[in-house]
Amino acid sequence: VIVACGTSWHAGLVGEYLIEELCRLNVEVEYASEFRYRNPVISSGDVIIAISQSGETADTLVALENAKKQGATIFGIVNVVGSSIARMAHAGAYTHAGPEIGVASTKAFTAQLVVLHLFALKLAELRGTITPERFRELVHELDAVPDKVAWILQHQEEAIQAIARRYIDAHDFLYLGRGYHFPIALEGALKLKEISYIHAEGYPAAEMKHGPIALVDEQLPVVFVATRDPYHEKIVSNIQEIIARKGKVIAVVTEGDQVVTDLAEAVMTVPAADETVSPLLSVIPLQLLAYYIGVAR
Ligand code: BG6
Repeated sequence: VIVACGTSWHAGLVGEYLIEELCRLNVEVEYASEFRYRNPVISSGDVIIAISQSGETADTLVALENAKKQGATIFGIVNVVGSSIARMAHAGAYTHAGPEIGVASTKAFTAQLVVLHLFALKLAELRGTITPERFRELVHELDAVPDKVAWILQHQEEAIQAIARRYIDAHDFLYLGRGYHFPIALEGALKLKEISYIHAEGYPAAEMKHGPIALVDEQLPVVFVATRDPYHEKIVSNIQEIIARKGKVIAVVTEGDQVVTDLAEAVMTVPAADETVSPLLSVIPLQLLAYYIGVAR
């Protein structure tokens, strides 16, 4: 069970996908504030992964204390060394992202994703659910992330600033993604809300047709995380559904993706990466977009 709040909860959702895929283990991701007040079934032997930048979020801390009393093992993924959650956990890994100064957690989020990936890889190796070749491939993929992030910062900032200026007057934004990028859509929307005070919602791209599509018109920018992954064709058809209703599509795309580039009004480009690693890249343009819209407003 992964327990967290806010941005850390979004990292937990990516962790769920990673651990289920690589380790073939059931994972539930819980809002600490809900987990704390209801009466969850916890058995000794259950492992609770607590994710927290500050290590002090009250709901997460109390949820863990309750679970610990019921015999759960607590594994903390925490940024602040020596914080309350770090001290009460049985085991854990610090993210060592450095201090988060603003309220919006950014580098701590990407660091949480890295720790979750390493955790899933090690657990998969121990459980024998990953081949040595795939293990090595994913370690190399993680190793390549800093250079790819540097590429985004070097080559995309100007384009993202221009997008920010273009959509500065929007009252609402919708963020859509599938698979590993569904949590990234949620995180993109949260960053925009926290930093620019614009209303934004994140949704699984396919679920959009069961309600939110009613809101789509020429006033609504829709941000798609549409990088190349096994769902690419499906996300292209979701983009076409939005365009048919005159929504303005902004997309995060993989370098060289002409299909989505031709459909969208604006694109933010990231380098290609393995699907399990790509959330680490696709979140960066969304963090920058929120930042530059905030600055521009
Ligand atoms: C919120 C912050 O109050 O706490 C979010 O605004 C943050 O940005 C959330 O993600 C959870 O904090 P933490 O420290 O437990 O990760």
